[in-house]
Amino acid sequence: MSGDLERFFWSNDGPIVHKWLHYFPIYERYFGAFKGKPVRFLEIGVSKGGSLDMWRSYFGPEAVIFGIDIDPNCAEFDGRSGAVRIGSQDDPEFLAKVVEEMGGLDLVLDDGSHHSRHIRKSLDTLFPLLSDGGVYMIEDLHAAYWPSFGGGYRRPSSFMEVVKVMIDDMHHWYHSRGEKVQATAGGLSGLHVHDSITVLEKQALSRPAHAQRGRN
Ligand SMILES: C[S@@+](CC[C@H](N)C(=O)[O-])C[C@H]1O[C@@H](n2cnc3c(N)ncnc32)[C@H](O)[C@@H]1O
Repeated sequence: MSGDLERFFWSNDGPIVHKWLHYFPIYERYFGAFKGKPVRFLEIGVSKGGSLDMWRSYFGPEAVIFGIDIDPNCAEFDGRSGAVRIGSQDDPEFLAKVVEEMGGLDLVLDDGSHHSRHIRKSLDTLFPLLSDGGVYMIEDLHAAYWPSFGGGYRRPSSFMEVVKVMIDDMHHWYHSRGEKVQATAGGLSGLHVHDSITVLEKQALSRPAHAQRGRN
């Protein structure tokens, strides 16, 4: 087992958590530094409520944990392990209101509709609101290859194509095309692509510098 999250998962006899198993070490890698801290964590997609229990047990009592879902039935989990708000991930006003209520945002896990257009809409709203040092994780991106989720192999509307554009954007210092994804412009310090999970790290950036030191 890779760590606390997987241990929670396999011993869970509360409400259902639904995760691909290879995600656990990836969560630990990017979220581990925030354990036990007063981190502000937002999960898009509450479903059966079990994942919020898992995140509460992982991040600890000081974390501010919010989940959002379009399904009004998810309101029954409000106040259990975190706050639950009902609305759509493609509604910028709703998202901004939730973040305001949270008092800011350090971590996002997008496990919502998995529709490429919705993923982009959430990113456009939430990444600018993410704190410096924050992490934005999007899972189940296999759906970006499926037309029924607004995706497709190398289809321009697929979120995977946005990921590729962000790689070019990160290197805008070295070409003349500028940054195309405005939401992450100037703040995308790291981009990590795993099977079905993409992780974006945020840090205010300044122009890279290089130097030479030592004897010739
Ligand atoms: C994969 S489930 C979430 C699973 C949960 N995070 C877990 O780990 O057990 C996806 C959830 O996203 C919700 N959803 C679908 N479309 C949405 C939208 N536009 N905005 C917010 N949530 C949405 C669904 O109602 C569903 O509960």
